[in-house]
Formats: sequence, structure tokens, C-alpha cells
Amino acid sequence: MAPNHHIRYLLTFSFLALFFLAVPLLVDSSPSFGFQKFDKGSNFESQIALYGDTKVDENGSYVQITGSWNLSAGRVMYRKPIKLVEGNPRRKASFGTYFSFSLSPEDGDGLAFVMLPVGFSLDGYDGTLFGLSNELAEKKNRPFVIEFDTKIDAKYGDLNGNHVGIDVGSLVSVKVTNASDVKLVLNSGEKLQCWIDYEATSKRIEVRLSKLGKKRPSDPLISYPIDLSEMFKNKPVFLGLSSSTANSTQICNLYSWSFKLRQVPYWMHSQPLDPEAFTKDAEPVALHKRSDCILRVLTALIFGTGCGALGAFIALFVWTVFVTKRPVAPEEYVVTRPVNYEYDKVKVLVVEKSAKDDDRK
Ligand SMILES: *[C@@H]1O[C@H](CO)[C@@H](O)[C@H](O)[C@H]1NC(C)=O
Ligand SMILES: *[C@@H]1O[C@H](CO)[C@@H](O)[C@H](O)[C@H]1NC(C)=O
Ligand SMILES: *[C@@H]1O[C@H](CO)[C@@H](O)[C@H](O)[C@H]1NC(C)=O
Repeated sequence: MAPNHHIRYLLTFSFLALFFLAVPLLVDSSPSFGFQKFDKGSNFESQIALYGDTKVDENGSYVQITGSWNLSAGRVMYRKPIKLVEGNPRRKASFGTYFSFSLSPEDGDGLAFVMLPVGFSLDGYDGTLFGLSNELAEKKNRPFVIEFDTKIDAKYGDLNGNHVGIDVGSLVSVKVTNASDVKLVLNSGEKLQCWIDYEATSKRIEVRLSKLGKKRPSDPLISYPIDLSEMFKNKPVFLGLSSSTANSTQICNLYSWSFKLRQVPYWMHSQPLDPEAFTKDAEPVALHKRSDCILRVLTALIFGTGCGALGAFIALFVWTVFVTKRPVAPEEYVVTRPVNYEYDKVKVLVVEKSAKDDDRK
């Protein structure tokens, strides 16, 4: 009776472990994309929309955001608005994005990573302030902007013509870094790569920048503590890359772009997450939706099985501790006693034998 009982407990426990641990992994709440080419084959327009003067080069190898004339402006936007907070209980979202770009040596506005709340006009653009000037003038919808600025604009208190700034609600930077300090020139015409990572858990955004082909820097170039879900008052947000030439002929090109959103379950909010582990996903790798899903199911199954095995181990351990130690219980004593008795008998025989041996001497 006893072993059967325990096996049943063990199986139930394993299945429960598998179920509860696998289910959260199967929920698809992580929109993502990645493009290294912008040709017909990559089908990028199902995910990314182009605005203003933005066009794809004839080979589909890059997107030219601005034209080489005064007051040109353009924008590349992810079509799906993202939700930074969702559900009940509320789950906050973290994200990572990676892109590679170049800015030609003129003193145009440069490039901006923008997060625009739903309601912010995506079509309205003009040739200054990263193409955001029309909407900014209205002050209705506050954007979140990370600027790669190549022009000194005294009106916005710009540091120099080569800085990275974090702008909250307007284009006045709340934090700014001199790109020359890390030996980078934003508008050298060279290809640069950028990683932007937002962690909902630690309420922090980090920006890393390096020349294309170089490693992801371990230290961010600039970081800022901010709760983006709080800033956007739970409104869905469009994100993208925006540029304008202002009074220049600066060309801004985009060579690759990937993005990954991840919901943080409410019960994980108190746990520190490893930002490195997450942001590695934001490499410019083309993502395949279906295989991604299969992979997730497999991961869930393997994880669940692992946890089931762990559960089985714990159950076995408990069983070993409580069941095999039973000799202390009175009923088991009856069983063990004859053994002791036999042992006593052997001892007696030995004693008798050695007594006889002694007699012979
Ligand atoms: C397109 O690709 C061809 C062949 O690789 C190259 O010769 C041409 O310069 C490219 N055109 C552009 C606009 O990059
Ligand atoms: C930016 O950094 C460069 C190199 O370190 C330095 O020469 C320059 O003065 C800095 N500019 C500002 C405004 O701090
Ligand atoms: C634009 O640039 C030209 C030549 O660099 C200059 O003469 C002109 O004053 C500039 N206009 C504005 C509005 O800054």
C-alpha cells in the first residue's frame, strides 16, 4: 500500500510542477522583430512603416531616412504600438532594441530613437528637430527621445555637435554625454551600432554605442532612471527612429534594426533580473516567428520536465527520510528484531567456538 501511495503523490507533484512552470512560458506577450536587410524577401514592411522622405535603397540593403537636402525629414516606425504595462495583476514590460546607422559629416540634427504615445501624429513631420517639431509645438503628447545629436542648438542647451542625450517630454536633455569622450564621432559617416535597453524591474534605460564590428560595450554610454509606464500613463506607445537635416544635407542611413519586448510577470517584480542575459537577445538576428514559438514550447517542456525531475527528487528524498527511517517506529521493530536475535545467536556460536579453541590449548 505505502509505495503505491507515494508514487501517486510523486506523479501528481511532478505534473503540477510541470504545469505551473510551463504555462507562463507559453504565453506569447513578447512582440519582436529583426531586420538586417530591407528588401522584398525580408517582408520588413509588415512590421516597419516608413514616413516622410524615408526610402529603401534600390538593393534593399539599407534604409535612407533623410534626403540630402535642406529640411528633409523621415521616420522609421514599428507598426505595433507596445504596451509598457498590461493585465491584471499588472505586468510591466522591458525591452531591448539594437540598430546600426550612419550619419554623413554635415551638421544636421542627427538621429533620434523616439517613443511616441498613441495620439502623437506619425505623419506630420518637418525638416527640423528630428522631424518632431510640429507635434512638440503643440505640447499635447510628450515623447521620450534618445538623441544622437550632431548640431549645437542653443535653444535646447546642447553640449556640442557630438552628443547623446536623453529627453523626457521635450527636446531639452535631462542627461547628456559627450560622444567624443569615448572617441566616437556620430557624423563621421562610419557605421555605428547602438543598444538601448529598458528594464522595467529596475526602472532604468541604458544606451550603448560602438563602431560597427566592435563588441557591445559593457558600460553604457549613458543611462537614466525612469519608469516609462508611469511617464506614458499606461498609454500604448509607438517607437522608431527619426531624423531631419535642418539646414544641412546630412544623410542618415539605417542598416539593421531589431527589437524585443518582454513582459515581466508581477511575481518577478521584486527579483533583480540580469540585464545582460536579456539584452543579448537584441543582437541583429533575423527572428523567425514560428520556429520561435516551437522553441518556446520546447523550452517550456524541457524546463517543465526538469522541474518535474526536481520535484520527483524532492519527493524521493522526503520518502527516503520519512519512510526508510521508520525502524524507530514500534511496528517496524517487530520486523528488525529477529535479525538482532540471529546476530546474537551467531555471536553466541562464535563465543562457544573460541571457548572450545581455548580448551584445546
Ligand atoms: C546594388 O548592388 C550592386 C551589386 O552588389 C552594386 O553594384 C550597386 O552599387 C548597389 N547599389 C546601391 C545603390 O547600393
Ligand atoms: C567633449 O570631449 C572632447 C574629448 O574628450 C573634448 O575635447 C571636448 O571639449 C568635450 N566637449 C564638451 C562640451 O565637454
Ligand atoms: C543655413 O546654412 C547656410 C550656409 O551654411 C547659412 O548661410 C544660413 O544662414 C543657414 N540658415 C540658418 C537658418 O541657419
